[in-house]
Amino acid sequence: FSANKYAVERKKFGTVSPSDIDYFKTILSKERILTNEEDVLPYNIDWIKNCRGQSQVVLKPRTTEEVSKILHYCNNKRLAVCPQGGNTGLVGGSVPVFDEIILNLSLMNKIISLDEISGALVCEAGCILENLDNYVREHDLIMPLDLGAKGSCHIGGNISTNAGGLRLLRYGNLHGSVLGIEAVKADGTVIDCLRTLKKDNTGYPLKHIFIGCEGTLGVITKVSIHCPAQPRSVSLGYFGVEKFENVLKLYKSAKSSLGEILSAFEMADNESITSTVNNLKLSNPIGHYPMYVLVESHGSDEKHDSEKLNRFLSEGMETGLILDGTVTSEPNKMKAIWNIRESIAGSGLIDGYVFKYDVSLPLRNYYDLVEDLRKKLGDRVTRVYGYGHVGDGNIHINVTVPQYSKEINSELEPYIFEQVSKLKGSISAEHGVGFRKPQFIHYSQGDTSLQLMRDLKRTMDPNGILNPYKVLPDVASHE
Ligand code: FAD
Ligand code: MLT
Ligand code: ZN
Repeated sequence: FSANKYAVERKKFGTVSPSDIDYFKTILSKERILTNEEDVLPYNIDWIKNCRGQSQVVLKPRTTEEVSKILHYCNNKRLAVCPQGGNTGLVGGSVPVFDEIILNLSLMNKIISLDEISGALVCEAGCILENLDNYVREHDLIMPLDLGAKGSCHIGGNISTNAGGLRLLRYGNLHGSVLGIEAVKADGTVIDCLRTLKKDNTGYPLKHIFIGCEGTLGVITKVSIHCPAQPRSVSLGYFGVEKFENVLKLYKSAKSSLGEILSAFEMADNESITSTVNNLKLSNPIGHYPMYVLVESHGSDEKHDSEKLNRFLSEGMETGLILDGTVTSEPNKMKAIWNIRESIAGSGLIDGYVFKYDVSLPLRNYYDLVEDLRKKLGDRVTRVYGYGHVGDGNIHINVTVPQYSKEINSELEPYIFEQVSKLKGSISAEHGVGFRKPQFIHYSQGDTSLQLMRDLKRTMDPNGILNPYKVLPDVASHE
């Protein structure tokens, strides 16, 4: 259990009793209340099998009104609640720590409206990202974000974590594309900011407090989001590169030579690709190289765009920045290459246990920590590998071991966070703080910012029932 593994003490919340379940039965039909241990188990365990809670109840509301009634009741009874979307989060935020009630949004999955002209999509929070993308593509639009977890993650979960993903470089982050939000406060009050306007400067920008709040300030029930036009032409380049320095040179050159059509610039080191190809039995279309780069273009002219990317490849090969590579516009080939990149996230689980870090660093220092950790840890670990969103200055560093080891954990933390802080980076670029990082948040946030966050939490959720033990550290542990 997470509580034992990370030595956390249960706060003084109520405990769910049979009379509470009877009350929930007056709101939800009984198949939407899970209490059987086996049924509840998968909702207690996170995707990377790093955290495990002890909840005995999962509630599955279908409407905002049901969410509101549940929260109103839980707030009065001081029952803690863990909001849960697709449970693909990587920092333990989506599963309970103790016996918090799991409020799973998966049945709130209706699409409400789509304005094909403005691109405004309005839907419920439990819609799966990939389903939304398939839907808007029928109307010549795409979702503004894409990530490896798209087949399971919910748009509400994406917004609650301010997920970045593979194409943030082109379409920006969710603070830019979310047009409106409907959310329920801890006491059951429904906050309706579900506008579809691009411009709306009427008072404080309330929707933004829910973007990235990881279920600690409210439960998102509906969202309105801007979908960009579906690009008429998409091309993908996959390149082998000699060293990280050359990855940066290529990035600079991609920005100037591909210009407006550049939609993704991702890197993965040899260990990332080897781990993925070997552990998951995938085939790699190019040979072994120290570094790999994926460059994607979204444009409107097939001939012009693939010419540009092919020219980028041949110039890269002439200058030696690219050792070998392939450029394709064939959907199946592009899918296979993206699949290698997107599968890195889970490949380390085959080695046993994965320590996952997700940091922002100045580009010049982007890869240093991976090499440093390899030296520091030597053969006491199975692998250390780095991959990520170069265009966003965001690297993922994974360290795998046969099984969880406290000793390795204490060599990694707070060491990694100290290094990141020295370079003025962020200890969590896109995955959030969740349960795993509150005690390290001060490496990225100052005291007065943390105090304002606490004030906000107190205003939104005075009894602290929403996702306790997450995001904000206990005052004692921080000071
Ligand atoms: P969950 O995991 O269920 O929840 C995440 C957090 O949000 C929790 O704190 C939870 O309490 C809260 N929450 C969920 N729904 C709601 C709601 N409706 N209202 C209030 N709070 C809520 N992340 C990236 O940023 N970029 C990536 O490229 C990326 N790639 C990934 C690839 C894989 C293979 C995997 C497994 C994960 C990846 N992630 C990535 C992390 C994760 O997918 C994202 O954080 C995602 O946005 C979480 O969505 P979810 O629906 O699964 O949320
Ligand atoms: C990714 O970019 O693949 C995701 O953020 C998941 C991960 O870091 O493993
Ligand atoms: Zn990522």
